[in-house]
Amino acid sequence: MSFTSVLLQCRAGFESECAVEFSEQALEAGCAGYVRFERNAGYVRFMLQSDALALLQQLSFRSLVFTRQWCACLEPFDQLPATDRLSVLLAPIASLPPCAELLAEVPDTTEGRELLPFAGKFSSAMAQALRQQGVMLPRKARAEWRMHLFVLSGRHLIIGVSPINNGSGLEMGIRRLKFPAQAPSRSTLKLEEAWHWFVPRHEWGERLGGGKTAVDLGAAPGGWTWQLVRQGMFVTAVDNGPMSEDLMESGQVTHCREDAFYFQPSKPVDWLVCDVADKPSRVATLMLQWALQGWCREMIFNLKLPMKKRHQEVQQCLNLISLGLEREGVRHRLSARHLYHDREEVTCYLDLRR
Ligand SMILES: C[S@@+](CC[C@H](N)C(=O)[O-])C[C@H]1O[C@@H](n2cnc3c(N)ncnc32)[C@H](O)[C@@H]1O
Repeated sequence: MSFTSVLLQCRAGFESECAVEFSEQALEAGCAGYVRFERNAGYVRFMLQSDALALLQQLSFRSLVFTRQWCACLEPFDQLPATDRLSVLLAPIASLPPCAELLAEVPDTTEGRELLPFAGKFSSAMAQALRQQGVMLPRKARAEWRMHLFVLSGRHLIIGVSPINNGSGLEMGIRRLKFPAQAPSRSTLKLEEAWHWFVPRHEWGERLGGGKTAVDLGAAPGGWTWQLVRQGMFVTAVDNGPMSEDLMESGQVTHCREDAFYFQPSKPVDWLVCDVADKPSRVATLMLQWALQGWCREMIFNLKLPMKKRHQEVQQCLNLISLGLEREGVRHRLSARHLYHDREEVTCYLDLRR
């Protein structure tokens, strides 16, 4: 059974960023290939001569910014009959490695989402049949692989496999979060999702809780500050705009009507978060300044990307920060991710704990 392509899922409109970023990493790993995608389709296919599964094992899923989900794929099934599709699929799938679970996925587009009910029903029937064949292991069994069913229509499916420890366990790589009714803005979900991605859940108590201090640059009306307060933090919210009155009543927030680019904390804080809408390179320079001054231990910041070459812009900003810190011998970990709740922007995390 050969895996002849990699399927990459991304936000619709970000196919070219996803494609360029993945091609660069594949090339660095010594694997040449070419990409196929349509604009706004919400996915990219990377076609290669060598084994796609081996390529996934060489790369790190978490190092990709614009890929939400990935898998190594069999040749697409594009001429399925209208009925009894399962029996056509079972023979080719029987030779896949044993998998722990099956994710039902579709392109994250308006048309794609309409296929979700079908994908869900079909994947249940498929999982049941695969369990009987021994390709799908019992629910609690340990396995190295997960299987993906990517539905493009009732007659056109892609089936793939990804490593359990190097991919996303979430369907379509999407973390669905409930909007908290008391939060002052929808932006609140960006910070919550960022924590889910960048901070392991079992470390939340130690790293986010217990009366920590934080600065929120570009805080108004307070969606991010609300998350910090919810974790029990004491927050300095920097913004010329008004903060939500309910949030100010918590007693945990000090509002500074100042310019984020000139604000300096009176003493170092545990967290800096920054959602200032400004040029990415200007924000990156500000983040570097905070890191070099030792004004915080961890930071989460957004880079707004209204320009065309978004992958290039992100790389330039990450390099600016990393090289600036390396030059001064500051140990750090920097990563970025185009989160589900991010639109024309990416979210970055900088760890300065030594
Ligand atoms: C996307 S909004 C922030 C939303 C906020 N994170 C939330 O969850 O409610 C961007 C904010 O950046 C602020 N901003 C832009 N330039 C700024 C600057 N130079 N200094 C301080 N705030 C700035 C704007 O006033 C605006 O409130």
